[in-house]
Amino acid sequence: MPSFVNDAARGNIYRDVTPAQRTIEDQLVEKVVQSFDHTPDPRLKEVMVSLVRHLHSFIREVRLTEAEWGAAIEFLTRAGHITDDVRQEFVLLSDTLGASMQTININNAAYQDATEATVFGPFFVEDSPRVERGGDIAFGAPGEACWVEGNVTGTDGNPLAGARIEVWEADEDGLYDVQYDAGKRSARGHLHSDTDGSYCFWALTPTPYPIPDDGPVGQLLTAVGRSPLRASHLHFMVTREGRRTLVTHIFPAGDPILWDDSVFGVKQSLIKRFEQQPAGTPTPDGRIIDGAWTRVRFDIVLAPSDA
Ligand code: BEZ
Ligand code: FE
Repeated sequence: MPSFVNDAARGNIYRDVTPAQRTIEDQLVEKVVQSFDHTPDPRLKEVMVSLVRHLHSFIREVRLTEAEWGAAIEFLTRAGHITDDVRQEFVLLSDTLGASMQTININNAAYQDATEATVFGPFFVEDSPRVERGGDIAFGAPGEACWVEGNVTGTDGNPLAGARIEVWEADEDGLYDVQYDAGKRSARGHLHSDTDGSYCFWALTPTPYPIPDDGPVGQLLTAVGRSPLRASHLHFMVTREGRRTLVTHIFPAGDPILWDDSVFGVKQSLIKRFEQQPAGTPTPDGRIIDGAWTRVRFDIVLAPSDA
């Protein structure tokens, strides 16, 4: 195969292919597409036909070799083998290819000033501990204390009481509780917005950490010279009846990894100022705590559920 095919043919699946060869390849695509003619579910048909057309265009554009096809099958097989109830290598693959983020963009279209969504990630658990207003979600996890406060409102500006706010994050060693032990619960919790829509709690100042990179996705990142690091972040999931569920993070301004996030999750509107407070600064709840701490404001705006 001449090497110019890969470089020069990008975006043109017919370049440097003889008319006879082109006909063979075109006929196969149409035959596969026709195999979905009797699909009862029209949406399934639409998705499968489009998938086949794009897949064949990709194979033809890069002139995929049989060895490369074999390597892809082997990669997917390894991804399957490492996947279990707690490790989902296919989601990680989707995340690192930007496919998760693109799906989120499509399904959470910007609506007025509603807070933007970002990736869910694999570390949410259903049974996080409940904390009261001003409580601490660290539950002993190591890291610098961080005071988080804000209001939950609708896009009309009216306060939303009783919104359930789930928060979770890695500790300063870059690990989530469930990575130590599936039953451990720390650096996560949930609370509800107050009658005036306000909320506040203690957490940890977020620090960068790598996505799980000891499997095929990590090997792929190494092969292409990419870092597995995620920009520092604190996860939020906010639910309220009649409102679109918001899955998002906040990211500290100034983090050097912001624009190299391994899963493309950073959006400008989600970058917040985490203000450094020197040791000895009284806390908002009127205490002096050990060491320096930070504080951040995150006002959350929820779109209507039919937005
Ligand atoms: C996370 O933020 O927890 C995460 C997101 C995507 C892939 C891996 C981890
Ligand atoms: Fe995370």
